[in-house]
Amino acid sequence: MVTDDPRKGYWNEAYYKYWKSRVDEAGVGSSQVIKGDANTEDDDVYRALFSTYGFNSGRVLEVGCAWGRMFPLYLAHGLTLSAVDISAAMVGAASERWAGHPDIESIQESPAESLPFDDCTFDNLACIATFDATFQDQALREFLRVTKPGARLFFTGKNDLYHRDDQAALDAEIGARRKQHPNFFTDTRRMVELLQAEGHKVDALLCFPRRGDFAKAAYVTPPPDHFYEYMIVLTRGPVVGDFPPFASEHSKTFLAGEHG
Ligand SMILES: C[S@@+](CC[C@H](N)C(=O)[O-])C[C@H]1O[C@@H](n2cnc3c(N)ncnc32)[C@H](O)[C@@H]1O
Repeated sequence: MVTDDPRKGYWNEAYYKYWKSRVDEAGVGSSQVIKGDANTEDDDVYRALFSTYGFNSGRVLEVGCAWGRMFPLYLAHGLTLSAVDISAAMVGAASERWAGHPDIESIQESPAESLPFDDCTFDNLACIATFDATFQDQALREFLRVTKPGARLFFTGKNDLYHRDDQAALDAEIGARRKQHPNFFTDTRRMVELLQAEGHKVDALLCFPRRGDFAKAAYVTPPPDHFYEYMIVLTRGPVVGDFPPFASEHSKTFLAGEHG
């Protein structure tokens, strides 16, 4: 277990407070958080996509579970759930609400890059709104290591080339850097090539062209040249190896614009 990971302070304090404040202001103004619950409008999109692509029966691991807002979505599929998050504060919040549920095996503090599970443990894995915060080559290897051949994986991320006039995306990138929010942009084509070269099957690559398109379920496929977010649906192949880095702290869009 990594005990002195410098990223933990951000997720335990600044991000935890930020989410608590968003929940407090739920239902007010343009807030997407639903009043009385720590859930957001995006949940309906996840619910629909999980149903469209489906899970294998058995066990699912959620990586980056926060306070467990997605748990009902997995439990609705009859899955046995394990969950990890890098933040002890988030794990505490999730455990307070969910510990003791008969279909939840464990909720543990762990970074995505070093998962506390044996090889080939899970039938499914989901990593939602979290992969972009990880060291992606390491996290992806771990996702594949702890899942079984034939496992179903879902994860989301941010593409490293979005539209130059997507001001909301650019503002979010600059704002994240200012807050020192860990934020990495995927060379999505490269990642897909690496996955396919290793024998994993990309069942779907849903590309959301602009920031805000996720909540509208406005995705396109096949991948256009420019898009902001993606959700990938994978079937794990028989073999898992290491990946070279395929993500960067600055998007190509930001770098091309020479923004300050
Ligand atoms: C934006 S939240 C998303 C949470 C949840 N998946 C959801 O959609 O509600 C990101 C979560 O990932 C966790 N996280 C960030 N980096 C991580 C890492 N390297 N490994 C595991 N969890 C991480 C954070 O503590 C936070 O709870």
